[in-house]
Amino acid sequence: MPSPKRKILVTSALPYANGDIHLGHLVEYLQTDIWVRFQKMRGHDCLYVCASDAHGTPIMLRAEQEGISPEALVERYTVAHQRDFAEFLIEFDNYHSTHSAENREIVERIYQALKVGGHIERRTIQQAYDDAKGMFLPDRFVRGTCPKCGAADQYGDSCEVCGATYAPTDLLDARSVLSGTAPSQRASEHLFFRLGDFEGMLREWITGGRLHASVAAKLEEWFAAGLRDWDISRDAPYFGFPIPGEQDKYFYVWLDAPVGYIASFLNLCRKRPELDFDAYWGKDSDVELYHFIGKDIVYFHALFWPAVLAGSGMRTPDGVFAHGFLTVNGQKMSKSRGTFITARSYLEVLQPEYLRYYYAAKLGPGIDDIDLNLEDFVARVNADLVGKIVNIASRCAGFVHRLGDGRLTDVLHAPELQQDFVQGSASIAEAFERREFSRAMREIMALADRANVYIDQHKPWILAKQGDTAEALAVCTQGLNLYRVLITLLKPVLPQVAAHSEAFLRIAPLNWESLQSPLLDHAIEPFQPLLGRIDATMLESLVSVPAAPAAPAAPAAAARPAPDIEPIAEEIDIEAFSRIDLRVARVLSAEFVEDADRLLRLELDDGLGRRQVLAGIRAAYGDPASLVGRHVVVVANLKPRKMRFGESQGMVLAAGPGGEEIYLLSPDAGSTPGMRIR
Ligand code: MSP
Ligand code: ZN
Repeated sequence: MPSPKRKILVTSALPYANGDIHLGHLVEYLQTDIWVRFQKMRGHDCLYVCASDAHGTPIMLRAEQEGISPEALVERYTVAHQRDFAEFLIEFDNYHSTHSAENREIVERIYQALKVGGHIERRTIQQAYDDAKGMFLPDRFVRGTCPKCGAADQYGDSCEVCGATYAPTDLLDARSVLSGTAPSQRASEHLFFRLGDFEGMLREWITGGRLHASVAAKLEEWFAAGLRDWDISRDAPYFGFPIPGEQDKYFYVWLDAPVGYIASFLNLCRKRPELDFDAYWGKDSDVELYHFIGKDIVYFHALFWPAVLAGSGMRTPDGVFAHGFLTVNGQKMSKSRGTFITARSYLEVLQPEYLRYYYAAKLGPGIDDIDLNLEDFVARVNADLVGKIVNIASRCAGFVHRLGDGRLTDVLHAPELQQDFVQGSASIAEAFERREFSRAMREIMALADRANVYIDQHKPWILAKQGDTAEALAVCTQGLNLYRVLITLLKPVLPQVAAHSEAFLRIAPLNWESLQSPLLDHAIEPFQPLLGRIDATMLESLVSVPAAPAAPAAPAAAARPAPDIEPIAEEIDIEAFSRIDLRVARVLSAEFVEDADRLLRLELDDGLGRRQVLAGIRAAYGDPASLVGRHVVVVANLKPRKMRFGESQGMVLAAGPGGEEIYLLSPDAGSTPGMRIR
């Protein structure tokens, strides 16, 4: 019985367009993408929109530092983000930017409505001002000594050591991170959104099951503390939209950021005229609207946002789904531990679907943090995806070709088992719907265990040897039908494996409806390996590939003296040094590695033979041909490492922090390949 067709609009938070997408962000975009793909497979009319978050002080300053316009910076990151998302198989129906005509139009409309409704107030405030730089300073751009515990170099809004919160004026010896000078205090008129006007509306809104209990509890705390007016204006210079009717005042980035959801949808409407904008965003909309976000931005999405929407006569969200933060090996991601892993560096080493599965296996509907434990990651992916799922197809397909000429039999061998699988899909669908992905994965793997037990019990390989061809074929046909159910259930998580399986089985795209009818008396293609095992050495390269050009948080970046000199490493004795076999080598060929932004493939003559080295030096050597013939220094006895694009046999030595600043070491003329360096 097909459920009625729902109309659903889904968003993920809009990533700031001044830094690389990393594995932490991907928790959110993968969670959302899996949920959206599930809804689409159920036959619902589900749209998924996103955009770049383009405005604000950090983006303005970063662009200034690079000597480019903020528009150019935003454009560069928007392109890079979309490419990362696409390669992780995250499929948006639209991707736009908050720095767009649509967003400006809607923000102005909303502001006008709030003003008319009497929800905007004007008040003069005192704020830290950098006289040298000529601008007001956001709290995060003032640092100094904590007034509570005396810890040095703390942010203007809170102390990372003792957790105290305060105003930048409370800091002892406050400094602007932009100029290093002591900030002065200046008065300025700001515009405020009267959040308190919406307390009644918000109290009602949060009770409708729209929030997970843990998030609703957080809101209760905020109600108890009292809803304060929200400062929605910023003084020039600022990268954002000017506030109509004001002089040198701009909308605060967090006012126009969520409006970017609407703007992206409006932009989609302009590409697809059959979409009715008001049916989605009008007050009486019956379209379901859900926002997926991280737990750090609940305040903006569960208080300000519904209040702003209600205050401007628009519909409010039906759900704000917050997730927790990613840790790697139990700790916050960290550049110095090598666990700050960007989307790009992951993709250079591993397939996206491993991570999609691992996150799915860990995600629940709440705000618990999720841990990427690298050892567990390898074990789980290999055991579940390769050992339990892909294995079924590879075990059965060979016999179907050898004994049955590639054709499935016309009856099921174990119809009750098939029926159990189909019935099991109901509970799995419910788990996907409620964002209990870890439960969905557990139940799918329990079914996979049963499929493998079935094959083990009936042993088609013995049947084949005994000449019982019909029985062997019937068992393998059944096995492939169980596989087909499992792949359907996993399709939201593994879209590429599913597509390859559809090609292998020669069938139309699988959806929830197709679970009902088994595949019988049907010709299939020869089996191609769908997903290989992860080799643990691949992870070594993942956590040790030098990070891309650092894109540190803006305040720190603005203050950072260039270049950084690293401290001298831990002392070693001569014996330890002599174990490193350094050799002169000659570059025989050098080329780009397709799809790998940072890598060059070098073929080296090391005096004894040829070896291939994958080196993360592409940004510095954009013309690889220029390296041919050059002498370099190679670490000849470094254990070979498997990477997604092949094996790297050794390492070439270079100086510099990374990115474009990499300088290969070259022995002087006269040296020949194979000479040892000591
Ligand atoms: N630009 C704002 C969102 C505006 S939405 C109208 C923003 N951008 S962000 O780039 O910092 O983060 C984008 C999303 O990724 C947020 O939902 C954030 O919670 C999430 N994550 C960023 N780092 C994360 C982890 N380390 N772990 C899990 N999610 C993380 O916030
Ligand atoms: Zn402190």
